[in-house]
Amino acid sequence: MTTFVLATANPHKANEMRAVLSGLGIELLERPDHVGEVEEDADTLEGNALLKARALVDATGQPAIADDTGLFVDALEGRPGVFSARFAGENATYADNVAKLLSSLEGITAARRTARFRTVVVVAYPEHEPLVVEGILEGTIGVEPRGDHGFGYDPVFIPEGGEQTLAEMTPDQKNAISHRARALQRLVEVLAQR
Ligand code: IMP
Repeated sequence: MTTFVLATANPHKANEMRAVLSGLGIELLERPDHVGEVEEDADTLEGNALLKARALVDATGQPAIADDTGLFVDALEGRPGVFSARFAGENATYADNVAKLLSSLEGITAARRTARFRTVVVVAYPEHEPLVVEGILEGTIGVEPRGDHGFGYDPVFIPEGGEQTLAEMTPDQKNAISHRARALQRLVEVLAQR
C-alpha cells in the first residue's frame, strides 16, 4: 500500500481524494494539526500545489500529496483560474464566488458559457523530484445555481454531454468524471510505471 500525507485542509477535497484513491491502493494520512496554512501565492496551479505538498514534506519527512484547482471560463479570458478561491474577494464564500461568476456572465448566451475545471495534483518526496499530473473537465456555466452536493462552483458547472450540474450529481457520479478524479487516475498510472 502506498501512503501519502494529505496536504489539503479542505474536507470536501479530502473526501473526494480519499473516495477515488481508496479503490486504487493509495492511503492518505491526515494533515497534522500543527502544520499551519500555506500561503498559496504562486501564479500557477502547479506552483501552488507544489508549495502545499512541499510544506507537508518539510513538516513530516514523508511523501505528501496536494491538489490545486481552478475554473477557467472562456468568456472571461480564463478567469477566475488560479484565483478561483478569491474571485469575489479575500474572504469570499463559495456562494459569493458563484454570485460573482453569474453576474460576470450576465447577458452571455449558452453557447459562449464554455469553461473547464483544471486540477493539478503534486506528490512531493523528501528525497527526489516531485510528480505532477493534471485532470481536466470540460463544461458550461449555467444561469442559476442547481443542486446541493459537492462544493465551490459545482452548482453552476454543467459537465459536457449532460444537463445536470456537478452539484446535482451524487458524490460517486462526480468522482467518476471529475477533473480531480482524472488527475488522480493519471497519478496512479504514473506511479505504476516507476
Ligand atoms: P483550491 O485553490 O484548489 O483550493 O481551489 C480553488 C477554488 O476552486 C475553491 O475555493 C473552490 O471554490 C473551487 N473548486 C476547487 N475544486 C472544485 C470542485 O471540484 N468543484 C467546484 N469548485 C471547486
